[in-house]
Amino acid sequence: MALNLNSFNLQTYKYSSFALPTMSRGNLRSSTILMASTVGSGTKEVESLKKPFTPPREVHVQVTHTMPPQKVEIFKSLEDWAEQNILVHLKPVEKCWQAQDFLPDPASDGFYDQVKELRERAKEIPDDYFVVLVGDMITEEALPTYQTMLNTLDGVRDETGASLTSWAVWTRAWTAEENRHGDVLNKYLFLSGRVDMKAIEKTIQYLIGSGMDPRTENNPYLGFIYTSFQERATFISHGNTARLAKEHGDMKLAQICGIIASDEKRHETAYTKIVEKLFEVDPDGTVLALADMMKKKISMPAHLMYDGQDDDLFDHFSAVAQRLGVYTAKDYADILEFLVGRWNVGNLAGLSSEGRRAQEYVCGLPPRIRRLEERAQGRAKQSPIVPFSWIYNRDVQL
Ligand SMILES: [Fe+2]
Ligand SMILES: [Fe+2]
Repeated sequence: MALNLNSFNLQTYKYSSFALPTMSRGNLRSSTILMASTVGSGTKEVESLKKPFTPPREVHVQVTHTMPPQKVEIFKSLEDWAEQNILVHLKPVEKCWQAQDFLPDPASDGFYDQVKELRERAKEIPDDYFVVLVGDMITEEALPTYQTMLNTLDGVRDETGASLTSWAVWTRAWTAEENRHGDVLNKYLFLSGRVDMKAIEKTIQYLIGSGMDPRTENNPYLGFIYTSFQERATFISHGNTARLAKEHGDMKLAQICGIIASDEKRHETAYTKIVEKLFEVDPDGTVLALADMMKKKISMPAHLMYDGQDDDLFDHFSAVAQRLGVYTAKDYADILEFLVGRWNVGNLAGLSSEGRRAQEYVCGLPPRIRRLEERAQGRAKQSPIVPFSWIYNRDVQL
């Protein structure tokens, strides 16, 4: 391959040798490895970089602490409200489902038969479904990142790790509930025998190491808008994997995905209630935050996904999810439209001129996204076929 050392950009050298964010992916990573392996050695092949783990860097500027300090008081004053209105959406542990409720019991005599049945059912499910289910599972398994994200938010973070504020109690219990989602999917996929667990486990390790960049700026207004959107997105996608599992004749898997979707719905209710309250106490600040998040676009939690081989893994996974109708661009527009209606954004009164502009922008956005999406679909070429490490590099159409 011809090398052009003049094109070596020092900036790219600082990028990780394993992963880049969606917007700067691909060429940068390969050029980094290519160049680094040739600097000072002419055309001689040298070993790939033996760099320690380096997380990827986003290309945009990371903005921090954008909530004015006086607004921290709003969240302090909402402590009791949150206790009475948000903590009630948590389920007592004794009433919660656990992964074991939906999986073969390893202590029972029937264990091997139950595993055999599970594998027989899994045989009927196509590869593209497994790609989406694996991507969903990996997204759930990066839970440490999401708890961290919530604890970046000023005024609501868990200051000690065992803080007794309502916000901190919520975040820990929410995390504990979410933890079951990755668990049950991981164990199901392990038993199914259909997927390459080592490739999947590597992807999880890369992803947790990379983190995420939701661009919520330590700002709980932005943070809770983000989580409202995300919980609804996961409610929709797990609901769709449940529906498809049923269509493929696997009622047990449908039950697993369905029970996860019902948790996501409960979480969506809690987060949207928080934002509804923010609209009540600070309509101007909240509508500006909503417009800001939508201008930046809601990035998916696993957008920095990488498996060690595919520079565009997240895009490829998303394309399959879109084709199967598990999570689509139309869903994105529908979620926004739902939230705009849920928060009654169109009828907010007493806004500043800036607030009114933000209101107009978000209310007009869902149809605009749909139009753009339809145009993009019209231009779409024939979808390529891509190998996924998660299924032993078998090819899947995007
Ligand atoms: Fe979840
Ligand atoms: Fe969730």
